[in-house]
Amino acid sequence: MVSSDPQSLSGKRILLVVGGGVAAYKALELVRRLRERGAFVRVVLTAAAARFVTPLSFASLSGERVYEDLFSLTDEQEMGHIRLSREADLVVVAPATAHLLARMAQGLADDLATTLLLATDKRALLAPAMNLRMWLHPATQRNVATLRGDGALFVGPDDGEMACGEFGPGRMAEPLAIVAAIEAALRGDTVLPPPVAGQGRLAGRHVLVTSGPTREPIDPARFLSNRSSGKQGHAIAAAAAQAGARVTLVSGPVEIADPKGVATRHVETAQQMLEAVEAALPADVFIGAAAVADWRVEPSADKIKKGASREPPTLVLRENPDILASVAQRREGRPALVVGFAAETRDVLLHAQEKLARKGCDLIVANDVGAGVFGADSNEVHLVSRAGLASWPRLDKTEVAARLIAHIADTLGETP
Ligand code: CTP
Repeated sequence: MVSSDPQSLSGKRILLVVGGGVAAYKALELVRRLRERGAFVRVVLTAAAARFVTPLSFASLSGERVYEDLFSLTDEQEMGHIRLSREADLVVVAPATAHLLARMAQGLADDLATTLLLATDKRALLAPAMNLRMWLHPATQRNVATLRGDGALFVGPDDGEMACGEFGPGRMAEPLAIVAAIEAALRGDTVLPPPVAGQGRLAGRHVLVTSGPTREPIDPARFLSNRSSGKQGHAIAAAAAQAGARVTLVSGPVEIADPKGVATRHVETAQQMLEAVEAALPADVFIGAAAVADWRVEPSADKIKKGASREPPTLVLRENPDILASVAQRREGRPALVVGFAAETRDVLLHAQEKLARKGCDLIVANDVGAGVFGADSNEVHLVSRAGLASWPRLDKTEVAARLIAHIADTLGETP
């Protein structure tokens, strides 16, 4: 979250190293945002960056001269490279291209940018941006791990559509997200490191998970919802990320934190959840752990008043879309494995089998919600598939998640 203080970076000195990628244009907006918050920004461009965005644009926005050349006598006389690197409170690299990360990880100092990064005594915050294959390449992931080990902080990359038309992780974090990370880094927080991709049983897979309740508005003050805490769904998303998957979590309103290394989309209503799920597809695995409200009301624009007659209002319920069924029954782009949950208060197995068939999914995780499961930390589940039934003892929800992810990895087989 970006600070609400308009001068949150007042007097802070940021040394911004801009690498040569398409995302370099977003660094211009970053400079604007930092200046708005009272920071002084000194910009260093790599030779490649100067081919994407002109030094003049950065100079106009930062109000300072822009540095590019290690061997410029004027630059060195006015501001030696050591001084340049030391006079900052934080060094930010945005975009941090694959090549720049590689040079940093190697400790190369073959231009002004890398020399500064080696000479600085301040922390570096890196905002990677590159094609998703480049990001997922073991060489890049090795470099990221090395740099993290050296104390570098990371923000992003985000999942999304790339300039090259592909979709996946590698898009530079949005300027405001970088601002928030800068604020956190200057406070001394450790910014979330990116997940180490390419390892684990679900490496190369995209796992899409829904979690939490949905909230269906009645009027601006009231809503229909349920007791789901999101603990089980969030634990599943975290376990999938730990198994090396790229994970998208679509979460209804919950009181727990977003899992680490998971791209989390926050929604309220079932309709919004469906839209977020559709936007996140394709996926290899879909896990519908959310307690989607079955019904919604046509919400009133104004708060419903008791009125003179004191007659209680009538709420007309309409059925919500069934997200699990719509994913399971897709003709094109159906995930290889579609997993649903069944929250039942009686005849658990019977209902689970019926749900498996009716919704068209591959596996139902059935639990008896009569037994104090909502909000609890443990869960007793039965796995129902066409192949048969497995019942697990009461386990911590994180353990249920880990076992479920292992079961999914077994079902999918080892090769992506
Ligand atoms: N689900 C969904 N969209 C809905 C309702 C349910 O995706 N509109 C998913 C849930 O995420 C869960 C599964 O369907 O994975 C089972 O939900 P549940 O509410 O237990 O079943 P229902 O379909 O509502 O059937 P019933 O009301 O008969 O229990």
